[in-house]
Amino acid sequence: MHAEITEEIEEYCESHSTPESDLLYRLNRETNLKVMNPRMLSGHLQGMFLTCLMKMMQPKSVLEIGTYTGYAAICMAEGLPEDGTIDTIEIDEELEDIIRKYFSQYENRHKINLHIGDAAKVIPALNKTYDFVFMDADKEDYITYYELVMPKVRKGGFILADNVLWSGKILQEVKKSDKDTAALQRFNDYILKDERVRNVLLPLRDGIMVIEKI
Ligand SMILES: C[S@@+](CC[C@H](N)C(=O)[O-])C[C@H]1O[C@@H](n2cnc3c(N)ncnc32)[C@H](O)[C@@H]1O
Repeated sequence: MHAEITEEIEEYCESHSTPESDLLYRLNRETNLKVMNPRMLSGHLQGMFLTCLMKMMQPKSVLEIGTYTGYAAICMAEGLPEDGTIDTIEIDEELEDIIRKYFSQYENRHKINLHIGDAAKVIPALNKTYDFVFMDADKEDYITYYELVMPKVRKGGFILADNVLWSGKILQEVKKSDKDTAALQRFNDYILKDERVRNVLLPLRDGIMVIEKI
């Protein structure tokens, strides 16, 4: 048995990880004060994990599905090589001001392209091959996004899907009204059976499915 990740353990991990930059700290704070559902923001640990992943992988092209206030996009941009870029898609136009406010203060802003629109419509119009995709939009459509991006991911490229444990609800009997949990269960089973990929489900934060296109 492993130790349960309590709030104290999470605080200990945060206090023993490189602190957030001042920009990310302010974005995190403003999101918590002014935006609905601030729990959606990746946060310090996951954000730093994404930065480190980008440093390790050095992808030239990254796609994020679900920008929210732009926290993870900035974290990923932070780890990109000099010629790396991110396309990030957000459906909620009310978030555009806060996203642009923080992107405009970020020194590597030239690496980030924001697309305001529905990912299901924006992805088919992106004429690119991606080395890395971070899937973090509405859970009901994970399989749709996965199938839309799959042809655009290079062999050896990675897709990370966030929140696949859904606060542990994934193990419980699903209520009829709970479409997200049912969709995530379908997604996790779907990935396991997909012979085009190798995958590992990491119990980091709310569960991250790491998928390599082979
Ligand atoms: C969990 S949040 C993203 C958090 C962000 N990736 C981060 O780590 O800071 C999910 C976002 O996906 C957006 N979203 C939901 N459906 C979408 C769609 N069809 N196309 C694009 N964005 C969508 C939501 O508006 C929300 O802002």
